Amino acid sequence: MREMKATFETNGVLETEKLGEALGKLLSPGDCVALQGELGAGKTAFTRGLARGLDAVDYVTSPTFTIINEYGGDIPLAHMDVYRLNDAFELEDIGFREYLRSHVVVVEWAGKVADILPPEVLWVEFEILDDKRRRITFTATAGRYEKIIRELKQQ
Ligand SMILES: Nc1ncnc2c1ncn2[C@@H]1O[C@H](COP(=O)(O)OP(=O)(O)OP(=O)(O)O)[C@@H](O)[C@H]1O
Ligand SMILES: [Mg+2]
Repeated sequence: MREMKATFETNGVLETEKLGEALGKLLSPGDCVALQGELGAGKTAFTRGLARGLDAVDYVTSPTFTIINEYGGDIPLAHMDVYRLNDAFELEDIGFREYLRSHVVVVEWAGKVADILPPEVLWVEFEILDDKRRRITFTATAGRYEKIIRELKQQ
């Protein structure tokens, strides 16, 4: 599969939120953003910014205990954290496919459910460099996401 990558470094949580916000402004319903990275790497912080970029109405907190949080707005957001899921099919049970028709879908710990993700996703990988710095790598698996990555790099 053709892949395109872009790497960013953020210094502090606000910069990670800003990067998420910039991405959010470029997304449309049906887009699926797959987040990977260890505990505390910044996935939820990034999603908070992404929600702001979509003009979502609520504040994003971690959905770890609820699996999914929904946010309204012109472009609604479904924010999922599958850390506690036992298998990918549980995600289908809670309506993953339906959300993909109408929402932007963001999945934390997406590697755990890679088998059921749509063929075209935007992967975002978070690495902890030190207490303030994170390396954030975008990987596009489709032309649509390549275009989005290019636009992000120009900002
Ligand atoms: N550059 C940075 N980007 C994001 N978060 C940062 C950064 N520097 C420090 N932090 C801190 O790291 C933590 C990131 O927490 P966050 O909940 O976003 O992580 P997460 O990847 O969602 O973790 P989990 O897997 O537990 O859901 C916060 O406490 C935040 O203040
Ligand atoms: Mg989180």
